[in-house]
Amino acid sequence: MAKRRCLLLFAAAVVASLLSAAAGLDVGFYNTTCPSAETLVQQAVAAAFANSSEVAPALIRMHFHDCFVRGCDGSVLIDSTANNTAEKDSPPNNPSLHFFNVIDSAKSAVEAQCPGVVSCADILAFAARDSVVLTGGNSYQVPSGRRDGVISNASEALANLPPPFFNATQLANSFAAKNLSIQDLVVLSGAHTLGVSHCSSFAGVNNTGDRLYNFSGSPDGVDPALSPAYAFLLKSICPINSSQFFPNTTTSMDLITPTTFDNKYYVGLTNNLGLFESDAALLTNATMKALVDAFVSNETAWKALFSTSIIKMGEIVELTGTQGEIRLNCRVINPVNATATAESGSPVLATPAGSSESTGVAAS
Ligand code: HEM
Ligand SMILES: *[C@@H]1O[C@H](CO)[C@@H](O)[C@H](O)[C@H]1NC(C)=O
Ligand SMILES: *[C@@H]1O[C@H](CO)[C@@H](O)[C@H](O)[C@H]1NC(C)=O
Ligand SMILES: *[C@@H]1O[C@H](CO)[C@@H](O)[C@H](O)[C@H]1NC(C)=O
Ligand SMILES: *[C@@H]1O[C@H](CO)[C@@H](O)[C@H](O)[C@H]1NC(C)=O
Ligand SMILES: *[C@@H]1O[C@H](CO)[C@@H](O)[C@H](O)[C@H]1NC(C)=O
Ligand SMILES: *[C@@H]1O[C@H](CO)[C@@H](O)[C@H](O)[C@H]1NC(C)=O
Ligand SMILES: *[C@@H]1O[C@H](CO)[C@@H](O)[C@H](O)[C@H]1NC(C)=O
Ligand SMILES: *[C@@H]1O[C@H](CO)[C@@H](O)[C@H](O)[C@H]1NC(C)=O
Ligand SMILES: *[C@@H]1O[C@H](CO)[C@@H](O)[C@H](O)[C@H]1NC(C)=O
Ligand SMILES: *[C@@H]1O[C@H](CO)[C@@H](O)[C@H](O)[C@H]1NC(C)=O
Ligand SMILES: *[C@@H]1O[C@H](CO)[C@@H](O)[C@H](O)[C@H]1NC(C)=O
Ligand SMILES: *[C@@H]1O[C@H](CO)[C@@H](O)[C@H](O)[C@H]1NC(C)=O
Repeated sequence: MAKRRCLLLFAAAVVASLLSAAAGLDVGFYNTTCPSAETLVQQAVAAAFANSSEVAPALIRMHFHDCFVRGCDGSVLIDSTANNTAEKDSPPNNPSLHFFNVIDSAKSAVEAQCPGVVSCADILAFAARDSVVLTGGNSYQVPSGRRDGVISNASEALANLPPPFFNATQLANSFAAKNLSIQDLVVLSGAHTLGVSHCSSFAGVNNTGDRLYNFSGSPDGVDPALSPAYAFLLKSICPINSSQFFPNTTTSMDLITPTTFDNKYYVGLTNNLGLFESDAALLTNATMKALVDAFVSNETAWKALFSTSIIKMGEIVELTGTQGEIRLNCRVINPVNATATAESGSPVLATPAGSSESTGVAAS
């Protein structure tokens, strides 16, 4: 009897620990350790956004690209070193990810108040939420408590991030691999209501396998899923071989309202104005198409679901508790000495004792 109760208690404890490990994050994680954290991040993002509205889409995408590679662990923020090509220098991220300096500003402000407490991964998750709000989306509470990773590998970014030429099946598989549903896929693709794309993402490097000049199986080389008028416009913006000669040219992804967080992405999409094959693909699957149509007719519904799906995306976390580290500089894995001295009670860097359970593993 006693043995059995003991087992039951043990089982309950295991279930409880599994449940908390499954989420591992809490809204207001820094309530007591850094109460101003979320406000300071919001101020840094708002200041940068006042200077350039391109900041908002950049940070939303940066959070997505962080979460799909080793979970949301700030690995996308790490700079390459002589020994390591980091995620940010992988083709899906370079040269398109930008405004890393905004995360640096937010981190500096937070470090000045509460050194060594708030992870870079959480700062990025807060900054993405602030970006949604600044452009007209709904606010939402961000579960936090993510830990920063100590590995950032360019090949892993290439392997995990869905490319713009994926079809519906491939997109669904890519999201399913991260425990995200078809609904999450369609809802989150709505982030393409903001921001810009380089020509290379739809006109191809050297214009092979692209939507404008050499689309497989199309007599005129143009993807038939693209509105002919839009294809004509895109050809003027991205002339043949432009990705080679004008690698920095960009074009808005939502033609209708490029800087507003609204449902016009879906309106454009149903008029064959989706910029990528991955956008147009959402019309090729009945389940996905029904969601697109629902969001065309009900913007309120989409905005509410966006909060649900981006929170879910933000919960793709592999490091919790004392795993990983609280990076002191979001671009650099903590030096081994920072940890060694912090643990011995005489930190050289201004970290409060016990605030950073870093493994101190250096970049490989
Ligand atoms: C469904 C699969 C997705 C694919 C294939 C995809 C692909 C892309 C590509 C190729 C670009 C343009 C990069 C460039 O050339 O500059 C882009 C931009 C962008 N994506 Fe996605 N994306 C996807 C999902 C998402 C998700 C889930 C989010 C966020 C929730 C997102 C947010 C953005 C934003 C905001 C931009 C504009 C970035 C800027 O202006 O700096 N995308 N995406
Ligand atoms: C932090 O405070 C907010 C507001 O009072 C509360 O909703 C949240 O549950 C708190 N979180 C933690 C982890 O204490
Ligand atoms: C404002 O934006 C410009 C162009 O993007 C950039 O060069 C400059 O550093 C920004 N200034 C601030 C204060 O963010
Ligand atoms: C990088 O490689 C060089 C030469 O192999 C080595 O001396 C150095 O310690 C390495 N640095 C890191 C951070 O691993
Ligand atoms: C990066 O990841 C790839 C693919 O998983 C792996 O083959 C490679 O060894 C990794 N590189 C480093 C430096 O760990
Ligand atoms: C999607 O792409 C995969 C891989 O190229 C292919 O096997 C599949 O038939 C395609 N599916 C559709 C619906 O086009
Ligand atoms: C839509 O895509 C999903 C995921 O690939 C697939 O399971 C489903 O059968 C597709 N639905 C239709 C109607 O094609
Ligand atoms: C997806 O969920 C399953 C079961 O809940 C879990 O074992 C797995 O680690 C999750 N995968 C990711 C990438 O979060
Ligand atoms: C594109 O073409 C240029 C010039 O022919 C060549 O140097 C470059 O390697 C090509 N890039 C790719 C990705 O094929
Ligand atoms: C068009 O694409 C095919 C492969 O689909 C490639 O073999 C061919 O070289 C490309 N043509 C041009 C002009 O880029
Ligand atoms: C594109 O932008 C990068 C980074 O700002 C710059 O180094 C490069 O010179 C630019 N290339 C062209 C062709 O303008
Ligand atoms: C739109 O969606 C919201 C939220 O799901 C719902 O409350 C509302 O009734 C819907 N409006 C219409 C016109 O269907
Ligand atoms: C670590 O600390 C030791 C002793 O203070 C010093 O000699 C060494 O250079 C430091 N290493 C690094 C990587 O900072």
